[in-house]
Amino acid sequence: MSELRLGFIGCGMIASAHAAAVRLLQEDGLVRLVAAADPDPAGIERIASITGDVEHRFADGRDLISCDDVDAVVVITPTRFHREAILLVCDSGKPLFAEKPLAPTFDVVTEIRDAIVKTGITCQVGFQSRFHPINRKLRAIIESGELGAPMGYTLRDDQYWPTGAVVEGHTSWRSERSEAGGGALLEHSIHSCDLLNWLFGPAVEVFAKTRSVFGYSVEDVAALTIEHASGVVGNLVTIFNGVQGREERRLEVFFERGAVEITTDFVVGAPEDSMLIQRPGEPAERIDVVELRRQDFASQGLDPDRKVWVYQYHAHRAFAEAIRANHDPSPTVQDAYRAHALVEAGYQSARSRVPASVLQT
Ligand SMILES: NC(=O)c1ccc[n+]([C@@H]2O[C@H](COP(=O)([O-])OP(=O)(O)OC[C@H]3O[C@@H](n4cnc5c(N)ncnc54)[C@H](O)[C@@H]3O)[C@@H](O)[C@H]2O)c1
Repeated sequence: MSELRLGFIGCGMIASAHAAAVRLLQEDGLVRLVAAADPDPAGIERIASITGDVEHRFADGRDLISCDDVDAVVVITPTRFHREAILLVCDSGKPLFAEKPLAPTFDVVTEIRDAIVKTGITCQVGFQSRFHPINRKLRAIIESGELGAPMGYTLRDDQYWPTGAVVEGHTSWRSERSEAGGGALLEHSIHSCDLLNWLFGPAVEVFAKTRSVFGYSVEDVAALTIEHASGVVGNLVTIFNGVQGREERRLEVFFERGAVEITTDFVVGAPEDSMLIQRPGEPAERIDVVELRRQDFASQGLDPDRKVWVYQYHAHRAFAEAIRANHDPSPTVQDAYRAHALVEAGYQSARSRVPASVLQT
């Protein structure tokens, strides 16, 4: 099959990471960015400067979706505009790569999920954390059972406040509930909600507290106690803070016969990357994360020494290969729905001050 011809709708901050991923995949001959849509031509120009060029440029995403040269659509607009673009992609029948969160409110997430399932289009959602070599290694340890069953975990997620008032030049829709739908939990830690479901199976119940320390209409702190159908219990604490440059996820998992601590960041190969495995009666083993990454790349037929810092590379590679092989990509829209259901139960619990069940539909 020839290259998968992609079109981006939305050419802002994170579209640059998608573009960097696509540039590498263009070198591999797997995909090509042929079109981009954004009311701001400067955004399209920025993307074109990363990928080399963009042949078709549109102010309106509708024109991109109907463009015959576009095989698959990548939706990267601010969250509140996802619905309109995604429903049009559903009508077109083209494969879709949609950024998370799918929508600011859970009823619209459900509408989007239902439309994608009904039309049967291929859809992958942008939970790229699943592709991080350290997270993949942790999942392999859980699946192998080598440390026994996982018992409990603690996950701390933090990131500088991604809003213009804190980071110069940043857009500010994330600090408005009417635009973003939620703060640290929905906008950022929905990644962690997906990761926790992926590692420990579906979450079934949650008790949560939220705070808005910076005074925006969305929360910047959320603390959740989560129970999974597997019996695993754990805590997720997520914080949007004022420490520009700081962005880290630390997960400690306790097993029947071991403990694993991992730290990751937004990019593969970040200075924060670490993994420690503790087995009974042995000194803790600090994993060589560079070697881990090399082995992970090699196991996927990639050059182990290739400098791939955006793990959107792996997400887009998986998307292109799923379309080529005609199978469902991962994470699916149903995976995204489950992560949203956990977030929604968290907000419900924070409001009602009692535990909330996570919808399993
Ligand atoms: N997967 C991740 O780790 C990750 C990281 C950051 C952002 N995101 C998600 O990606 C999406 C975009 O975030 P961002 O930080 O790039 O936002 P941004 O504000 O930096 O950029 C959004 C871009 O979309 C354009 N736009 C607005 N309305 C549009 C429309 N109707 N059609 C086409 N373009 C339109 C804007 O002009 C802007 O260039 C959000 O849903 C966000 O939550 C995901």
